[in-house]
Amino acid sequence: MKKNKKGEDKNMGKVAIYPGSFDPITYGHVDIVERALEIFDKVIVAIAVNEEKRPLFSVEERLQMVKTFFKDTPKVIVDSFKGLLVDYVAKTNAIVILRGLRATSDFEYEFHMASMNRSLDTHLDTLFMMTSKDYFFVSSRTIKEVARLGGGVQGLVPDLVVRRLKEKFKLPVTKKKQIRWDD
Ligand code: PNS
Repeated sequence: MKKNKKGEDKNMGKVAIYPGSFDPITYGHVDIVERALEIFDKVIVAIAVNEEKRPLFSVEERLQMVKTFFKDTPKVIVDSFKGLLVDYVAKTNAIVILRGLRATSDFEYEFHMASMNRSLDTHLDTLFMMTSKDYFFVSSRTIKEVARLGGGVQGLVPDLVVRRLKEKFKLPVTKKKQIRWDD
């Protein structure tokens, strides 16, 4: 791959890689990708295959959801990878790893991961973007929990994901329960 001094690929420009489990993709993830596209020419959304994490959605299902969401955004490439992230990055023309940071609680995990990746590949940097205020409380984990218990997650994940969650849990995710305190 021909790269200039800044690590830009001559054909693709500046490429960032956005790795994650995306189990499932949320509007928090989408927000990071959209803002990254203001800085980078292309963003590779790289879905990690990690069966140890016992994902709710298979890698094929996650790929389908993310690909469908970004089908009209040619600057976004959607792929999956197995094994070490640094090995996958080396096969692409990405110049940086991109991660979103929600709160201080994310920091320790992200700091360890970025440091480990940099120790595995000393040229590889991780760039962090602060999650927008609208999504700082959104995580795939809480989305799954809320959906599983029948809560509404519309507006926090793409509509397609709302439907997939509904199918997975065989629950109407729009159902709202009225709680009366005098009951
Ligand atoms: O969305 P997540 O689950 O926080 O993403 C974590 C991910 C997939 C980016 C991370 O677990 C990863 O990079 N996995 C690939 C294996 C690897 O390279 N591990 C060493 C980095 S510490």
